[in-house]
Amino acid sequence: MAARLLDGKSLAAQVRVAVKREVEALAQRGIRPGLAVLLAGENPASRVYVRNKVRACEETGVRSDLYELPASVSEEALVDRVLALNDDPDIHGILVQLPLPKQVDAHEVLETIAPAKDIDGFHESNLGALLAGRPRMVPCTPAGVMRLLEHAGVPLAGSHAVVIGRSNIVGKPLALLLLQRDATVTLCHSKSRDLENLARSADILVAAVGRAKLVTGRMVKPGACVIDVGVNRLSDGSLAGDVDFAAASEVAGWITPVPGGVGPMTIAMLLENCVRAAGASK
Ligand code: GUN
Repeated sequence: MAARLLDGKSLAAQVRVAVKREVEALAQRGIRPGLAVLLAGENPASRVYVRNKVRACEETGVRSDLYELPASVSEEALVDRVLALNDDPDIHGILVQLPLPKQVDAHEVLETIAPAKDIDGFHESNLGALLAGRPRMVPCTPAGVMRLLEHAGVPLAGSHAVVIGRSNIVGKPLALLLLQRDATVTLCHSKSRDLENLARSADILVAAVGRAKLVTGRMVKPGACVIDVGVNRLSDGSLAGDVDFAAASEVAGWITPVPGGVGPMTIAMLLENCVRAAGASK
């Protein structure tokens, strides 16, 4: 294998140590960071993500309150819950796990979260701050990707970054963060023509689509940095990213594994955002 591994598991563990120290410092000021997690319905992937988030809170001394709501929950009930948490001085972060059941307009619920407690960075005011080049709460997965790139010393300024996937959660905010670091950014999506050639022109190639093996070895420029945000459950029960890891790692200069790449960094950035929100609360 030619590529160097971008080890998110190990970097996330380092971040958690720093978060734990920050939690101890906040305790001196009489503050215990508190995160409320709202989980609606039975989506198995969401349940795993939430379990991992709650476990990371426990490990670092962040209080976490999990609200498990039925798949039939109304938008009004969710909005009311968020409003109550906005007013709760012991809660510094509110996380509404997505996707929400289809009868609920996720946008309405996310816009109800007080921006200062929006540790996912999904509120329009936080996304707008990012667009304006003055980031406040930055969405956790894009923040985790940037931290991995910075930690590995991947050159960003002047590089061509190609991001495949234009979601509000990953693709769009990540494109803005890369732009802010002076990368030239191409944001691709399902209608993009000639994805293969676009991808092959990337110094930094990010796949955030949710389709196993979307990125083949042929789509990777020799020496490029390949970031795999995808988590796909295969029919045999195993996990795979959006990148054909075996093929891409023969060509790439750096690559993230799945699992153990971006996923742990998402949770680490969530903890950081929550602790920062708590620190700013008094
Ligand atoms: N669903 C998939 N990724 C995320 C995330 O980062 N935050 C939330 N709230 N839901 C998600």
